[in-house]
Amino acid sequence: MAESLGIRKVLVVYSHPAHQCLNGAILDTFLEGLARAGLEHRLRDLYALGFNPAPLEKEWRDGFAGIIPDECKREQEHVLWADALVFIQPAWNFSLPAILKGYLDRVFVIPGFSFESDPNGVTYRGGLLKHKKALVLQTLGGALQTGYRFGNATEYAQALVSSLHYTGIRNTHVTQFWNLYKETQVDSPEIARVLATVRSLAETFDTKQPERVQIVSSCVTPP
Ligand SMILES: Cc1cc2nc3c(=O)[nH]c(=O)nc-3n(C[C@H](O)[C@H](O)[C@H](O)COP(=O)(O)O)c2cc1C
Repeated sequence: MAESLGIRKVLVVYSHPAHQCLNGAILDTFLEGLARAGLEHRLRDLYALGFNPAPLEKEWRDGFAGIIPDECKREQEHVLWADALVFIQPAWNFSLPAILKGYLDRVFVIPGFSFESDPNGVTYRGGLLKHKKALVLQTLGGALQTGYRFGNATEYAQALVSSLHYTGIRNTHVTQFWNLYKETQVDSPEIARVLATVRSLAETFDTKQPERVQIVSSCVTPP
């Protein structure tokens, strides 16, 4: 029997405004897979929650005094509860949807929560979430093999991976699904292949990790 990595509780952070879309299908499939594997999950659907990605000036100032808004404290409790964090998101403008970037800015970048600094708050002294693992499932409209893409494949997830690295999470795996523009039919054979990969990632989450960066191309011809 495969050895357990000790993952029992999984926080799933979903960053797409819709549910009837490829990311929604990936989310549903991933949650079904977790349930089949007997893993507990909590879902943070950032758009459905109405999460505000933009801190106000007061919050920015209060942050220096360690005063954190309730909305962010609540999210921090979910993060602390979990053994592993999973981010499901489309690539937007070569990076993350802004709502996810704001979630990282407002929930994680708090000294004493995700990292330690010296008493003056100046020098980074290490990430506090180092025992957690992370998985990123990212869809992209670009086609990897046809040149219908810009930049380096891994750059699309770089801001997220680096942000997690800062919190101490070094065990982050990225699976990218290329060639998935939003007109791709959820019930097409290409998507069936994508969802089979997602199902397997969820079902084996506690026993196996994919390569650090796994690129899955759906082989749909770009428009
Ligand atoms: C605002 C916006 C920006 C996008 N930027 C990129 C991009 O930089 N690179 C890319 O390959 N696809 C990009 N796309 C395509 C999306 O990644 C693609 O439509 C999505 O992954 C399809 O999944 P969905 O049906 O769940 O939305 C963008 C789409 C939108 C709406």
